Amino acid sequence: MINLKNIFYQYSKNDNWALQEINLSIFPGEWVAIVGSNGSGKSTLAKLMNGLLIPTRGEIHFFGRNPCNENDLWEIRRMVGIVFQNPDSQIVGNTIEDDIAFSLENIGVPPVEIDKRLTEVMDQFQLYPLKNQSPHTLSPGQKQKLAIAGVLAMKPKAVIFDEASSMQSPKDAQELYRMMSDLHQQGTTIVQITHEMEDLYGCERIIVLQDGMVKLEGKPGEILANTIMMKEAGLIPPFAVRIRDSLMESGYDEIRNAITPDQLVKQICISALKT
Ligand SMILES: Nc1ncnc2c1ncn2[C@@H]1O[C@H](COP(=O)(O)OP(=O)(O)O)[C@@H](O)[C@H]1O
Ligand SMILES: [Mg+2]
Repeated sequence: MINLKNIFYQYSKNDNWALQEINLSIFPGEWVAIVGSNGSGKSTLAKLMNGLLIPTRGEIHFFGRNPCNENDLWEIRRMVGIVFQNPDSQIVGNTIEDDIAFSLENIGVPPVEIDKRLTEVMDQFQLYPLKNQSPHTLSPGQKQKLAIAGVLAMKPKAVIFDEASSMQSPKDAQELYRMMSDLHQQGTTIVQITHEMEDLYGCERIIVLQDGMVKLEGKPGEILANTIMMKEAGLIPPFAVRIRDSLMESGYDEIRNAITPDQLVKQICISALKT
């Protein structure tokens, strides 16, 4: 669905490459995570993946559409929604209702259809009673919901979450994660961008970025078990993996394959029963 072929990106002529030699495909309905330390190129990649940035070199296609073609660009932005880390950066309307309506007007949705979609998403995100309120009166969690409501109202095929939970309370972050999971269940393609390795147990594939390049790509089981690689890429392995590593250092080799908290607990119980 999103196809990147030998992509290079540079913010200006004298800058270093923010991204180099990126070859990736995101498939319909997939839940992919893109991870990497600060400055590794995640947000640049996110913006290329919804047409906010155009590659300096290389080709990118969205269902066969090309962002270099002005006519395709709006359709691409409608098909691929993006939710940023700071919800304030996405607020454009004076009221909650206007804020969601604005993005729909922008892509040419007819007024009757706008009303229908507004009601739907405001209901879904419990924003209906607040519809005439200014978005700036909302809590950070509610603002993030508004941003997501605005994106979902466009009925996108894919949604990119660029560190969307990093400014949220643990409770709101958990709710956001559940939302990603529900969207994925309903068939929406999810691109989850994070530097937080604890959040990756739900995704189907992990792409690791380092210095603007793809360092590694694989199933969560493979990537999360690879402590050495995660550390090289400037990432902190998940808590369960760090415990596994400490236990292995103490000689508990049978724990090698336990990388989720559940697997870890199960393996510890099995080992304890044996002794
Ligand atoms: N607007 C910009 N102008 C110039 N350089 C930028 C800009 N945004 C990001 N960069 C540079 O591009 C590289 C990748 O940044 P970014 O994509 O934001 O990484 P991440 O999201 O992984 O933290 C970094 O070296 C960063 O300094
Ligand atoms: Mg970023």
